[in-house]
Amino acid sequence: ERSNSTGTGTAPVLVASNRGPVSFSTAEDGTLDLRRGGGGLVSGLSAIGDPDAVWVCAALGDADRRAARAAPDGRLDRAGHDVGGQAVRMLDIDPETFARAYNGVANSTLWFVHHLLYATPTAPAFDAGFRTEWQAYTAYNAAFAEALAAEAAPGAAVLVQDYHLSLAPALLRAARPDLRIGHFSHTPWAPPEYFRLLPDDVAEAVLTGILGADRAGFLTRRWALAFAECCAAVLGAEVDREALTVTHAGRTTRLGVHGLGADADFLRERAHRPDVEERLAALREAVGDRRAVVRVDRTELSKNIVRGFQAYRHLLRTRPEWQDRVVHIAFAYPSRTDLAEYRDYTARVRELAAEINTEFGTDSWQPLILHVDDDFPRSLAAYRLADVALVNPIRDGMNLVAKEVPVVSDRGCALVLSREAGAHAELGEDALSVNPYDVIATSDALHAGLTMAADERADRTKRLAAAATALPPQQWFLDQLDALR
Ligand code: G6P
Repeated sequence: ERSNSTGTGTAPVLVASNRGPVSFSTAEDGTLDLRRGGGGLVSGLSAIGDPDAVWVCAALGDADRRAARAAPDGRLDRAGHDVGGQAVRMLDIDPETFARAYNGVANSTLWFVHHLLYATPTAPAFDAGFRTEWQAYTAYNAAFAEALAAEAAPGAAVLVQDYHLSLAPALLRAARPDLRIGHFSHTPWAPPEYFRLLPDDVAEAVLTGILGADRAGFLTRRWALAFAECCAAVLGAEVDREALTVTHAGRTTRLGVHGLGADADFLRERAHRPDVEERLAALREAVGDRRAVVRVDRTELSKNIVRGFQAYRHLLRTRPEWQDRVVHIAFAYPSRTDLAEYRDYTARVRELAAEINTEFGTDSWQPLILHVDDDFPRSLAAYRLADVALVNPIRDGMNLVAKEVPVVSDRGCALVLSREAGAHAELGEDALSVNPYDVIATSDALHAGLTMAADERADRTKRLAAAATALPPQQWFLDQLDALR
């Protein structure tokens, strides 16, 4: 019995996110297979070890929906489906509403705005189709708010995650003013002049939705300030840039900066298991005595994979001494393939990789090795092997690859890092900084990384690893919870 007569539940701590800590697929015999996810939130929530905590997420596909329907109220039983002792409540949102909210508004609109991804002469165009999607996004956020209101104990702390759920904090506050509500953005935040591409009412709803929280968290001060500037420009809110507060309609929301770090203990242990060693041996064989430039990303528009390949091609063209002396290992695994922009981008990535191999490849040297399937142990093996890691996003909330590489690197690795990644705020000093749009500067940085002296590389890697692990996921999560309470 989770609801008492006043309509409140029993969970003292709740997390809400679109993608939950578990997902399901349908096995050949028709039964459901469970997969546990990783990431900062999963280890963070397990760190509090509260058996009454509840994680509310959306069912993302048909198998998830089956699992959600099989569980009473969509709350998966603890025995089989929990994550670190916490219950998961998966919302069975109807597929059309979900697709409009997730693909249409969250990933095609808000993600594009925050990462500056539009080619503005033609996109965005906020038409009748968008209005239908916006309604769905509102309904999707309302479904989360309703579930959270039903599960939360009096005075509970609720941590709402990311751009999928920007309306939920205000909706939840209206239903349950007793709760302590936090929102956290894992993305960058757009500058006001770009944010105002959104229709005025949408821009206002997104901001006032998040301001429904007591605290709004960001990965860097830069993104927190951009949010504050948007509140000032769009809402006329009163902003204190020093104290990081936003006051609007009589309420003050505090902004927090929590720079999620890499999980050193987990990574170092995981990176030396047999499955990683096996993949490392295979990669070593392919690289031989050449240098390795490594990148690992979702095939994501903001990750800037195409310009990264162009920079590598420019290096081979203009510094032929690197031919046959370097291999670019690029892992670009599938992401958001429902969106045409992502499918086109994936095709462009593959095409360019093939062009580079055709232009320079020989019988004994493949200049660029592209893998498009997700394989975490293989990524760790590549991190260990890398001489240079290329992390060149157009814009990125944080970028954990930049933080993970120095932690597991075997011999030290030069980090070429976009100045537009949130991680740059913490790692910029010991990385080779690049403007992600400048292909030639990126190529020069690759060259600088490849020629960096071994002891300098090792020293920088040590300092990078220290900075990268300053706020491990468990502490990151607890800090937010403490600040909220
Ligand atoms: C980013 C977002 C997350 C999201 C992830 C993967 O890191 O901040 O909220 O879960 O991308 O994207 P996906 O659409 O596959 O969940």
